Formats: sequence, structure tokens, C-alpha cells
Amino acid sequence: MADTIITPPKAAETGAVALPANSIIVVLGASGDLAKKKTYPALFGLFRYGFLPKNVKIIGYARTKMDDAEYKKRISSYIKTPTDAAEAQLKEFLALTTYVSGQYDQDDGFISLTKHMEELEGDVDERHRLFYMALPPNVFTTVAQHLKKNCYPNAGGARIIIEKPFGHDLASSRELQAALQPIWTEDEIFRIDHYLGKEMVKNILILRFGNEFLGAAWNKNHVSSVQITFKEPFGTEGRGGYFDQFGIIRDVMQNHLLQVLTMIAMERPVSFSAEDIRDEKVRVLRAMPIIDPKNVVIGQYDKSLDGTKPGYQDDDTVPKGSRCPTFAAIVMYIKNDRWDGVPFILKAGKALDNAKVEVRVQFKDVTSGIFKDIPRNELVLRIQPDESVYIKMNTKLPGLTMKTSVTELDLTYKRRFSELKIPEAYEALILDAINGDHSNFVRDDELDASWKIFTPLLHYLDENTDIVPARYPYGSRGPAFLDDFLASYGYAREQEGMYQWPTTKVNGNL
Ligand code: BG6
Repeated sequence: MADTIITPPKAAETGAVALPANSIIVVLGASGDLAKKKTYPALFGLFRYGFLPKNVKIIGYARTKMDDAEYKKRISSYIKTPTDAAEAQLKEFLALTTYVSGQYDQDDGFISLTKHMEELEGDVDERHRLFYMALPPNVFTTVAQHLKKNCYPNAGGARIIIEKPFGHDLASSRELQAALQPIWTEDEIFRIDHYLGKEMVKNILILRFGNEFLGAAWNKNHVSSVQITFKEPFGTEGRGGYFDQFGIIRDVMQNHLLQVLTMIAMERPVSFSAEDIRDEKVRVLRAMPIIDPKNVVIGQYDKSLDGTKPGYQDDDTVPKGSRCPTFAAIVMYIKNDRWDGVPFILKAGKALDNAKVEVRVQFKDVTSGIFKDIPRNELVLRIQPDESVYIKMNTKLPGLTMKTSVTELDLTYKRRFSELKIPEAYEALILDAINGDHSNFVRDDELDASWKIFTPLLHYLDENTDIVPARYPYGSRGPAFLDDFLASYGYAREQEGMYQWPTTKVNGNL
């Protein structure tokens, strides 16, 4: 794909206020994994495309003591520079950034950080600072407090970006919220859910509300079920100690997949402003009853069938006998006029047969009579990899028969938009935070509503020690009973080998 990027809307168009020239971006947790793998590469991407504020300075802050050379080596370790031009840009980018080391729970480090920021800002009337907290959750609150106390400018403004986990249930999320609220206003807080920065997730509103024919069929009269699937082909491999405290439901379902669900299910917002969009999302969540454990199955992966891949419990960092789910399928309902009775099935798993995230909207059967067993239409949004949208559609098989065949209306981004680069989710979101646009960030009441739906199930699973996840082999489609479970909610699965997007061949037409 060529190296061009879609121009984002100007801050003025969204009613938000952009960071001005000479702003400072501070990455807290600069020596950690998230910063190295996501934050700095995204900042570099934005720098390359000229989207950072003019004359911006970037400061890394963490506990590790390291010199400038070591810091720059670390933060560029995941930055790709395929061309000489990109390599030269990386040099320019690195020249903008410096490092300050300090503790997370003592004033001293933050005082040095402020001194350093003031040196870089010079003698100015207003100071504008964006703090990106790439930090473990146990230091969120103390860092947010120290930043406010020591690093908040007297004139100008400050924003903080925080990232999940936002608690592990409703009570702990409220506790975190209660600690942040008196010091940072909702307007200053940007809660990242990086799925909201993904191109295809951002496309959902355009697809739904910009296409009359889709809008017309988008309801319980025509839709049989909606499945949102997250599959990763690898296990926790060394990250098990962290993962085991959360499990797949807290790790990707209560946040990433639920965000996708709300975008799929929400009503048309009055405008594209952040509050109009988020009001509609919250309305969907408030119409969702708590999850009934009867509508849930959980699994945990075992060794692969050929024995080459380890089971979850073979990971040394995982506590022996862990009941942590690495797979779950959860059926949720929305009690409103549009969706009452339609199952929304969230499925997520680690160590599965392939890598993909998609939304599959399965429509109801067409009226029988002239057709026998004609397959259902499906609209599939492939979020990753290889962004695409396709509709499985019945058509007459060309030739002298009246046989039908399943074909597709296929929008594959790589083919259709071959000249355009799809931004990384973190690029899109950091740019939104710079522009002061909250549309793609999680609002406090949204977070609260999502925990309300999930917390009873999570406590039920945590507390009932007799509930043990079903085993599935590493590299499989998940627990063996999955297909029967889905069928019990009316999902009609294509028979194996009948239709395979995007490579279906139709033979023997005469
Ligand atoms: C993170 C989870 O939030 O999302 C990880 O903690 C998961 O476990 C990741 O692998 C998936 O993100 P992406 O962008 O690779 O789909």
C-alpha cells in the first residue's frame, strides 16, 4: 500500500480544542512494553505525517535509570524505518525526545519532570501538557495524583490518557473513578480502548448510517443473530501471570468486544460529536440485562494435538490448577425495540485455529416456498487482519439451470483502497487526544454501565470453584460443544467446505 494517510477531521469540526504549538507530551512508563510497542511507534507515525503539534517535545518518564542513548535505543526498537527517508525522520523524531527518571509515588521525580518541562517550554504565558500513562494499574492513582499536584500548569491545560484495566469489577472501577474524579475532570481524561481506534470499528457508524439499505434491515425483524469473534492463534506464552488475574472476559470482552457491540447496536446519533455518540452507546448498555450464566461457556487451552504447543497450565507463570478462562462465548441481549430477542454472541479465545476479529450479522431465513434450504445472508465486517466487508448473497448460478449459489459483495480494503495506508489504532487515538476529541474514548458512565452488565457473571465464575473451564486443544476452534451452543441460539453455520470467503470457486454450472 502507498504511503498516504486519510486526513482526519480538524479539531474545529468536532467542537474540540486541539493542543497548540509548543505542547509537551509525557509518556509515563516509558521503559515498559506498551510504550515501546505501541505509544512511541504511534507518536513517530504521527510525527512522520505531520500530525503532532508544531514544535512539540516528548518526554519519557519511568523508574529505570538510563542514559539518553539507552532510552532512545529502547523507544525505537519497535519503530520500522523501511526507507532512508524514514530513517532520517526517526533521527529528527528522536531529537524531540528526552528522558527523566523518577519514582511513581514520590514528589521528587515529578518536581524534576516539571523543571525539565519548563526548561523546554521556556518563558511562555500558557503551558499545554498531555500525559500518557503507559503504566500498570497499581500505580494509576498515585501517578495521577502526583501529576496533578506537581505537573499541572497554572495557565494552559493538561490531559491524561489512561488505559485498561479500569478496575476488575464494578466496585474497583468505581474506586478508581472516585480517586481520579476530584483531581482530573472528565474532559481532561482520555480512557483508551484501542479497539475504538481500529479503522473498521470507526467505519461501523458510516456503514450503518450512511447506507439506507443496511439501516432498513438492521433490526430484530431481519437480523437473526450477531456474532463478534476474537481469535488469537497464540497462548499467553510467558504473560500468563498477568493474564491469569484477568482471564479472557476481562481482558478483551468487557471492553474491546463490548465496544464493538455498542457501535453495532446503537441508534443514530444526532451528530458526530463525542457526547452525542457516547450518549447513544450508553443507552444501549443500559438496555442490556446482566449476563445470565446459562448463556455462557468457558474454556481453557490444553497442549496442541501434536504436542508441540504447551497448554495454558504448562506456562510457568500460571498458578497450578488455575480455572482462568482463556476462551469464552457469551450471549447477551438488548431489551429495546430494535433488538429485543436477538442474541448478540461474543466469542473470544487465545490459542485458537487462526487470527481474526470479525463481526458477523446473520439475517433471517427468506420466506420459504420458491426456495428450499437457501442459505441465509450474512454481513461480515472483518476488523483484522485484512480489513474487509462482505455480504454473503444468494444468486442464480450462471447457466441453463435455476440453481442458486452463495456469492459475495466484497469490499476488500487492500484491493479497493490500495493507495491508502490504514492508520494504527494508537495513531488514530493519540491524534484524537491531541485534538481534544473524546468520541473514541470511554466515558465514565459508559465504563460503569459495562461493568454492571459483566460483574455478576465475573463474581459467579470467580466464586464457584466447581465451575471448571472446558479443555480445548491449542490450535483448535475452541471447546468441542461450541457449535451446538451457537446453534441453540439459532445460528445457522455454513456446512464445512460449502462456502469459504474469499476463495470460493463455483464449478460445473451446466
Ligand atoms: C489487549 C489484550 O487489550 O488486546 C491482549 O490485553 C490482546 O490480550 C490484545 O492480545 C489484542 O489487541 P489487537 O489489537 O492485537 O487485536
